Amino acid sequence: MNRTTIVSILFISLLITALSFSFYFYHEVQSYDQKIAEGIASESSIPKHHFVLIGEEMNHDYWRLVGEGAKQTEQVYDVFVEYVGPERSNPEEQLKLLDMAIKSKVDGIIVQALNDPFTAMINKAIEADIPVITIDTDSPTSLRNSYIGTNNYMAGRLAGEALIEDTNGEAAVGIITGSFTNAHHKLRVKGFKDAVEKAEGISIVAVEESNITRVEAEEKAYRLLTEHDNITAFFGTSSYDGIGIAAAANLLNRQEDLYIMTFDALVENIQLLEAGDIDAIIEQQPFEMGYKSIELIQDIINGKPIQDSYHTDASIIRTSNLDNWTRERGGNLD
Ligand code: BGC
Repeated sequence: MNRTTIVSILFISLLITALSFSFYFYHEVQSYDQKIAEGIASESSIPKHHFVLIGEEMNHDYWRLVGEGAKQTEQVYDVFVEYVGPERSNPEEQLKLLDMAIKSKVDGIIVQALNDPFTAMINKAIEADIPVITIDTDSPTSLRNSYIGTNNYMAGRLAGEALIEDTNGEAAVGIITGSFTNAHHKLRVKGFKDAVEKAEGISIVAVEESNITRVEAEEKAYRLLTEHDNITAFFGTSSYDGIGIAAAANLLNRQEDLYIMTFDALVENIQLLEAGDIDAIIEQQPFEMGYKSIELIQDIINGKPIQDSYHTDASIIRTSNLDNWTRERGGNLD
């Protein structure tokens, strides 16, 4: 190989290396630009709508499911669901959150309408052109666009009819209600009373309030059982009532002969049913309520016609259908 050939080979190799580097860097710069562009795009891809969902208790499995249902719509509809509420039931705090949502001019509000003060605040939102869906507890006299949740009066009736059936129409009943003032609990008690009215062998001994806590449910059930030794059955209108009633029955050694019916398929309630300490549960559909509430707000924004209210299912779980119920959930109690 002569000198000229060696120089030529070296020159060509250098040229190829230089070209490869340029190509490589050109490509890197291109994809870097693209990544930056995508980054900016994803940062600026603000969801189309911002909704606020105000629940009763953040620290409660029932409301966790409502929130999960609503949150699951975020990807589907490209919306942001801000799920807020007090840790423990606190209607004043809920009202404040509602007021804040109105002042922030959000695109839609989903709220549980516990009592009268909610009606005026809901109307304020509607007057500010913000669509409102009531969830779980309705305010039919307000200007809200629609309601999604259990028909609480009918659920009370269903409970009453199930109790008549399960006790062969013979029972002296103590009622533990979550609240004397909140609309849904009042409706559940009313429905229950109306259903058992026709059964001559059923009497209602007393109605007490648990403030939707298991401690108060236990205290009140204990007191009722010691003051009225004729009580043979209990109806609890909120999630924790059955747990409290079962604990009181346990303390007084009445778990064998006492019939206990309560609201909500919480894991703890299902376990008590399995153990035979609770006899029947009225199941609601919190996840579906949450999911559909967002669909409804979307429909309103898109100008689609909606109904005045949408009632999700309420049904009874007893030991007789518990196996089926568990199987349908693939063994998952949650
Ligand atoms: C009611 C909710 C309540 C929850 C917890 C449910 O039965 O429908 O309104 O927040 O129990 O007490």
